Amino acid sequence: MSLFRKKSLSALLSQADDSEKGLKRTLGAGNLIALGIGAIIGAGLFVRTAAAAGQAAGPGVTLSFIVAAVGCAFAGLCYAEFASMIPVAGSAYAYSYVTMGELIAWIIGWALIMEYALGAATVSIAWSEYLNKLLGGAIPYEWSHSPFESFTDSMGVLHQGMINAPALVILLMLTLLLIKGTQESAFVNAIIVFIKVAIVLIFIVIGWKFIRPENHTPYLIPADTAPVTDQAGKVIADYSGWNKHGWGGVLGGAAIVFFAFIGFDAVSTAAQEAKNPKRDMPIGILGSLVICTILYILFGHVLTGVANWKDFVDPEKGREASVAYAISTYMSGYGWLASAVTVAILAGFSSVILVMLMGQSRVFYTMSNDGLIPKTFGELHPKFKTPYKSNWILFVFVGAFAAFVPGHVAGDLTSFGTLFAFVLVSLGVWILRVKEPSIERPFKTPMAPVVAVLGAVICTAMIVGLDKQTLTVAFAWMALGLVVYFLYSRKHSKLQ
Ligand code: ALA
Repeated sequence: MSLFRKKSLSALLSQADDSEKGLKRTLGAGNLIALGIGAIIGAGLFVRTAAAAGQAAGPGVTLSFIVAAVGCAFAGLCYAEFASMIPVAGSAYAYSYVTMGELIAWIIGWALIMEYALGAATVSIAWSEYLNKLLGGAIPYEWSHSPFESFTDSMGVLHQGMINAPALVILLMLTLLLIKGTQESAFVNAIIVFIKVAIVLIFIVIGWKFIRPENHTPYLIPADTAPVTDQAGKVIADYSGWNKHGWGGVLGGAAIVFFAFIGFDAVSTAAQEAKNPKRDMPIGILGSLVICTILYILFGHVLTGVANWKDFVDPEKGREASVAYAISTYMSGYGWLASAVTVAILAGFSSVILVMLMGQSRVFYTMSNDGLIPKTFGELHPKFKTPYKSNWILFVFVGAFAAFVPGHVAGDLTSFGTLFAFVLVSLGVWILRVKEPSIERPFKTPMAPVVAVLGAVICTAMIVGLDKQTLTVAFAWMALGLVVYFLYSRKHSKLQ
């Protein structure tokens, strides 16, 4: 049988309608927007905004947010069309199965593991780091770092990492919550979203009064900015590259803050649990994207207005805990806000992990129903109706990664997996418009061919812009996926 055998659209739709056997439909439009915001606002906003300002865009990081948001909006519109038309749990994987056939669907399902599972692992490692910061470094180094990390303290004692225990703990807690129920998870997510959005808004409103216009002039990094060195004379920032100053720097900054938008697509994995997916899927996907984009632009404006972008050049100084740094250095009397921001960051990270884990288990659920991965991944809990075995397997996989692998390894792979899915979803919309023009589309991407092609082109350009090491690991992962496909999935596929 052909590698490009396709699942029929009608089979997929009837599978989605079979609510007797399947996942429960419990989520409304508000829950879906909250799920999106839950997955979107995290390390990208709180950590990468300052990095983008200090390395490439200066105060123009607000423009970087706009550029990244436009790229995401194209893909977001395409996701909205698919998710309202084919409301199943598998997201990009399921859409590719009907448009481009089994092999491409498998490849995208495999790439989504990079986005969701590795994304969850990366953020859980960052969560552990921030928790330790909040506790003043109370967790011993050995118990909060992977075996591949070590550090020598000021007394000359070598500390060797063993296991990242806090990362495991947060993953375990969220896995238990996900097994308990989608509605319960959505409820906890909504509380977290309320906390983090409230603190972002408070920072924007209070910080606005502390903006110094001179910090915003010039708005883009001048081309003749001298390289910055650390105390030992090592260059830590060089602005001569095309994407390190001026408008090029705005684009360079967009690639850095793209991570901050990852997650709106996770809303589409909950399509099979939405009460009214036709109406609510586009609202959830596009609504969360719009709300976050507005918050991001305001946040970037205030952060680079309160502190000068040059404060964010040195990772050791202002960049790492940029928001807390800006508050404690320039906003006297608001020390409490600096602590509140750290709490918001921890909360924010938790909801990102929650929605990523949820998204991954839903993609596995659909792939398992199609026979491409073992049946276990699709089994639902008799009472809670959640894919509990999948959640446990995922905990072991993501947990092993979080506990034993250093955090920096996975961040850019998450961007790769996401961008790859964006490209295929954008192309898929176009393909289905041509092949199945008459099918009911509750939400239609405006100017579909143009938007779809632009979405695919912009996201491909961002993939090409990733560093070589990331691309090498990503291609090795994809090659492994092909081996699994030909040894197992192809033979077990229900289409076989
Ligand atoms: N957008 C998510 C974050 O910034 C992945 O943490």
